Amino acid sequence: MDRLIVKGGARLKGTVQVKGAKNSVLPIMAATLLGEGQSVIQGSPDVRDVHTLLKVLDALGVRGGRDADGTVRLEVQDAGPTLAHYDLVRQMRASICVLGPLLARRHRARVSLPGGCVIGVRPIDLHRKGLKALGAPTTIEDGYVVGDAPRLHGASVFLGGPFGSTVLGTANTMMAATLADGVTIIEGAACEPEVADLAAFLNKMGARVEGAGSPLVRIRGVERLRGATHRVIPDRIEAATFMVAAAMTRGDVTVEGVCTEHLGAVIDILRSAGAEVTTSDSACRVVGPEKLAPVDVTTLPYPGVPTDVQAQLMAMLCLADGISVVTEKIYPDRFMHVAELQRMGADLRKEGPAVIVNGGAKLSGATVMASDLRAGACLVLAGLVAKGETRVRRIYHLDRGYERIEERLNALGAEITRDDDGEEARDKPKDGEE
Ligand code: EPZ
Repeated sequence: MDRLIVKGGARLKGTVQVKGAKNSVLPIMAATLLGEGQSVIQGSPDVRDVHTLLKVLDALGVRGGRDADGTVRLEVQDAGPTLAHYDLVRQMRASICVLGPLLARRHRARVSLPGGCVIGVRPIDLHRKGLKALGAPTTIEDGYVVGDAPRLHGASVFLGGPFGSTVLGTANTMMAATLADGVTIIEGAACEPEVADLAAFLNKMGARVEGAGSPLVRIRGVERLRGATHRVIPDRIEAATFMVAAAMTRGDVTVEGVCTEHLGAVIDILRSAGAEVTTSDSACRVVGPEKLAPVDVTTLPYPGVPTDVQAQLMAMLCLADGISVVTEKIYPDRFMHVAELQRMGADLRKEGPAVIVNGGAKLSGATVMASDLRAGACLVLAGLVAKGETRVRRIYHLDRGYERIEERLNALGAEITRDDDGEEARDKPKDGEE
């Protein structure tokens, strides 16, 4: 399987263009199940998750593909199928976001449960609660979530859970409500920009969604939706990953094509760590300090520090001059990268949902293994500053959410090569992806 060989000692310099948001394009692609006619989704990143969801949608009668310029064209050509099979959903749990559209438009759904993964248990109880409130109760049968509902009706439902709001649970409920009879109020909705971007697409399809991006979302059901054209928002997590890389390599990188207002919490952390961050509407310039300062980090729902940047920030804080505490409030088990960073010489101690980072470590290159998308990014970033070479295995995780990551880092001065480490694909873990 592919691995990345990262040469240490890089100081990243230059400009990088951020791609479209993976976590926005995926639910928007699922939303095409609701409409009639072709949808055109512009700015889609060339990442494995997009190609996986195209296969899931094709099996559900939604035909189309992604052009080389990042435009995804999709059209419902067979509104019959309602099965999202385990073999595909296993590859990407975000496939669960076809559940709401299927129940709303086809009134039936049989979607494989995502199953657990390395970043923790991935329940869907809040998805089921939202859909049940709309008149679509679901059952769990043979590892599938199954629903069979006549016309849905509007409802008021609170979707907050023990770890705060749910992004895809809000997406599923919001999408289903667009074709329900009457008005739906979602309280405790996820406020992530990707939820607001999905609502913008739904409204272009003819839906009537108000308040998306806030904890209170109001959806007035309509009779039908049509295909629409939409450009997805920039990927704030990818942007944050490049910004952290600049900060920890004493670099000077301008990340272009971003929505700066989506990056407030990350910019605040980087500035507290001593990086110089200057922003315009669509770009952020990060100049890394000679010596990083320790910073306590706690991940929270948006607009807090994103859990998807936790691992990358931990890699940075390993270098800081002092002790930082990293607390993970969204996925308390999302620390698979800790043992890999320790292999590189990091001084880390896990204490429940937190990790004590005793900074000032001199990281040294090692063979490490990516366990999920963001842990993979963390290990590449650590390799950039480690002494010697770091070999990051199982980078298929990275390829799920980062487009040509090594090419784009090399354009900033990194020295990363990709090769096959000989591990057979059959050895690939059977665990689900995140
Ligand atoms: C989305 O996943 C993202 N994925 C994740 O990004 C991201 O980490 C996560 O939101 C949190 O921001 C996509 O958008 C495709 P949640 P999602 O439902 O929607 C608990 C990446 O790296 N929960 O917001 O599946 C859950 O266990 C990926 O790009 C319930 O308890 O996450 C977690 O603790 C990884 N019951 C918390 O809520 C439910 O029914 C937040 O999960 C659903 C979730």
